[in-house]
Amino acid sequence: MEADMKIAGFGVEEWLNKWEKSATYDISQSTISSMTMAELLSLDGVNGQTFYASLNKEKMNYGWIEGSPEFKKEAAKLYQHVPAENILQTNGATGANHLALYSLIESGDHVIAEYPSYQQLYDIPKSLGATVDYWHIREDNNWNPDIDELKQLIKPNTKMICLNNANNPTGTILDRNLLQQIVELAKEVGAYVLVDEVYLPLDDPDSFVSIADLYDKGIATNSLSKTYSVPGIRLGWTASNKEVADIFRKYRDYTMICAGVFNDLLGTYVLKNRARVLARNSKIVLHNLSILKEWVAQEPKVSMIFPRAVSTSFVKLDIQPEQTEQFCIDLLKDEGVLLVPGNRFDTPSHARLGYCTDTATLQEGLKRLSLFLHNSKYAN
Ligand SMILES: Cc1ncc(COP(=O)(O)O)c(C=O)c1O
Repeated sequence: MEADMKIAGFGVEEWLNKWEKSATYDISQSTISSMTMAELLSLDGVNGQTFYASLNKEKMNYGWIEGSPEFKKEAAKLYQHVPAENILQTNGATGANHLALYSLIESGDHVIAEYPSYQQLYDIPKSLGATVDYWHIREDNNWNPDIDELKQLIKPNTKMICLNNANNPTGTILDRNLLQQIVELAKEVGAYVLVDEVYLPLDDPDSFVSIADLYDKGIATNSLSKTYSVPGIRLGWTASNKEVADIFRKYRDYTMICAGVFNDLLGTYVLKNRARVLARNSKIVLHNLSILKEWVAQEPKVSMIFPRAVSTSFVKLDIQPEQTEQFCIDLLKDEGVLLVPGNRFDTPSHARLGYCTDTATLQEGLKRLSLFLHNSKYAN
């Protein structure tokens, strides 16, 4: 019993683990339509020949412990001020967040976390014995947080502020101006700012500002799972200053050693072809977002504060709050459509709607969701 009480169940993951394989129209996911190996390896126009030729020569030893020099160089290009030596490969962004929290947070620390967001960012610190205060994003403020509330929350012993930029599930972006204000507050008490940056606004990726470029004690985590459409690689990384990277190195040896030769090779290929991946994906996101907007405009039983070309959205449904989870279960059983019920983000009557699946699935999923809203027992 004791062991069970050390950490809360991961609401979204438990939901997806249980239901995602039975969905016909999965519009719950936050990854931009995942690529097959064939699609991925056709990006550079040589259909994977070069990739497989290199792979065949690789020994399946541990490979580069921190990630290969090529990988680290490519990942460092995403930042203005992070040298390759301060990039450390991890097992997805999940691994990156875990590494950062496990390395830096200890019992008695005070942590502030954007809420709701990715559950790791508050429940891992709690499990390590920290006191966690929530910095709420608010629907009546277009899902933005309020800097004045952060001023109220911050304390002399605040060890870390955990953010998710852009936010899962709402897509909220923390822009340079807001990040700078957060950094000023963090500096006053010497707090780290950890930002999970797996979602990128694809209408203008260059406008995105990483915390690692803004603040010496800023830690960026990222991965190839969402914006880059290859969660199957399980590859992520941390970007930080050298002192923090050295702390991470110590803990990393105990928790992962390395991310694997195959993953490194494929991940390096993805980052080298980043421009092509982003071109593919911005097309999908922008096209699907326009479909989503049209659907919301003509569907009286839903409303939405739209994300800015980020691959996750949060829809408000015309259902009773306490029905949220059962509505989503019945929607799946009757129509084959999967959402993530908003109670899993502590926000009932809402649902995460992953509109960046393939377009046909999105269209059929939305159509069936409308039918269900109007014709099922939930219609009133
Ligand atoms: C904010 C955020 N971080 C991390 C992850 C997990 O990423 P990865 O597959 O890289 O471990 C997710 C997945 O939903 C996410 O939404």
